[in-house]
Amino acid sequence: MSSFARAPATIQAVSHSQGAGLSRNVSLVDQWGHSRQIEAPRGPPVELRPWDGPVTLADTVGLRQLEGAKPAASSSSAPLARLARATRRVRDYQRQFGAAYVVALLLRSIVDRALIPIDTYLLRVEGTRGVLGPAHRGYRGHTALDNRQQWSAFDWSYGGEEWGPPEGRAALVEDELLRRLPPDPVIVEIGPGAGRWSAELQPLAEMLVLVDVTDAAVEICRHRFGEVDNVEVLRTDGASLPGIAPGSVDVVWSMEAFVHMAPVDVAAYIGEIARVLTPNGFALIHHAGRYHRRGWRAPMTKELFARLAAERGLSVERQFDSWGDGAFNVHASHDLITILRQHSALSSG
Ligand SMILES: C[S@@+](CC[C@H](N)C(=O)[O-])C[C@H]1O[C@@H](n2cnc3c(N)ncnc32)[C@H](O)[C@@H]1O
Repeated sequence: MSSFARAPATIQAVSHSQGAGLSRNVSLVDQWGHSRQIEAPRGPPVELRPWDGPVTLADTVGLRQLEGAKPAASSSSAPLARLARATRRVRDYQRQFGAAYVVALLLRSIVDRALIPIDTYLLRVEGTRGVLGPAHRGYRGHTALDNRQQWSAFDWSYGGEEWGPPEGRAALVEDELLRRLPPDPVIVEIGPGAGRWSAELQPLAEMLVLVDVTDAAVEICRHRFGEVDNVEVLRTDGASLPGIAPGSVDVVWSMEAFVHMAPVDVAAYIGEIARVLTPNGFALIHHAGRYHRRGWRAPMTKELFARLAAERGLSVERQFDSWGDGAFNVHASHDLITILRQHSALSSG
C-alpha cells in the first residue's frame, strides 16, 4: 500500500462518526430506472482516531497492522516457526492422505514457484503492449475475495489517514475535479474505505454513492455518513456498480482501490463506468502504472488501462502522476491517475 508522496509531519483529526439507531432507509435506482427502498444497517460504531504519526509510504498493505499486531515474532525466529508449522502440516497430510499425496503436493508447489518468473514475463510483455491477453485474463491474485479479506483484516481506526496528507487531497480536488465539475453532480466513489476522500466529495455532490467490496468499509461509511442526506453506501461484488442506472452519473472517482484489483475486475469496472456515465461524464481513477510486485499492486500498465478504456467507449483525457504543481505524487509505487471521458462528450462538441 502506498499513497501519494510529500507528507507533513502531522495530520488533522478525522471527523468522528455520528448518528444513532440501528438502520436507515436508502433508496436505490435499478438498471431499469425503478427506485426501491432498502433498509441499510448502520453497523457498529467506529471510533475514527486522528493520525498524528508520520505519513509513510508503506510498501506493504497494512504495514502498520503487521508491525502492531505481530510484535512477538522476531526476525530470526520467524523462519524457524514457519518451518515448524510446515513440518506439522506435512505430517498431518501424510497421516490423512499418504506419502504419495505429499510428494505430489511438493511437486505442485515447486512447479507453482517456477511459474512465477514465466508469468511475470508474460504479464510484462502484454502490459507494455496494452493487451489483456491470456496472462492478464488468467491472473489469479487480487480477486474480490482477496480484497475483501485484506481489507476486513485492516485496522481502519485511523481512517486511512496515514496514507496521505489532507493537503494532497485538497490539491487534487482543486486541480482535477473542481474545474470539470458540472452543477449538482452525482458522484460515485469506488473503494471509499473509511471515507477519507468521500468527505472531500460529499459537500460537492448532489448525491454521492459509495461502492465498496468490503463489509467493514461499507459499515464504517454508513456510520460515518449516516446522518448525511446525500450519501448512499452500497456493497459490490467487486466488479460492478449494482443498482446504478445507465447514464446517471457525472463523475466516478477512485483513489487507492484500482491499484489492488485484478485486471479482469478493472476491465469490468471500466465497462461499468462507461455504462453509468452521462454523455459529459468523466472518471478519475488511480491505478497501477507498471507491473511490479511491491505495495500489493495488481498487474496494470498505463497502456493497458488506456486500451481497456478505448475498447469500452471511453477516451483518455489525461494520464499523470503528480499534481499541486508537483508537490504531490504517486511516484513511489509507479502508479498513475487517468481521467476518462465518455466518447459522446467529444462527438457532441
Ligand atoms: C487501500 S483502501 C483505500 C480506501 C480509500 N479509497 C482511501 O484512499 O482511503 C482500498 C479500498 O478499496 C476497496 N476495494 C478493493 N477492491 C475492491 C473492488 N474490487 N471493488 C470495490 N472496492 C474495492 C477495499 O475494500 C478498500 O476499502
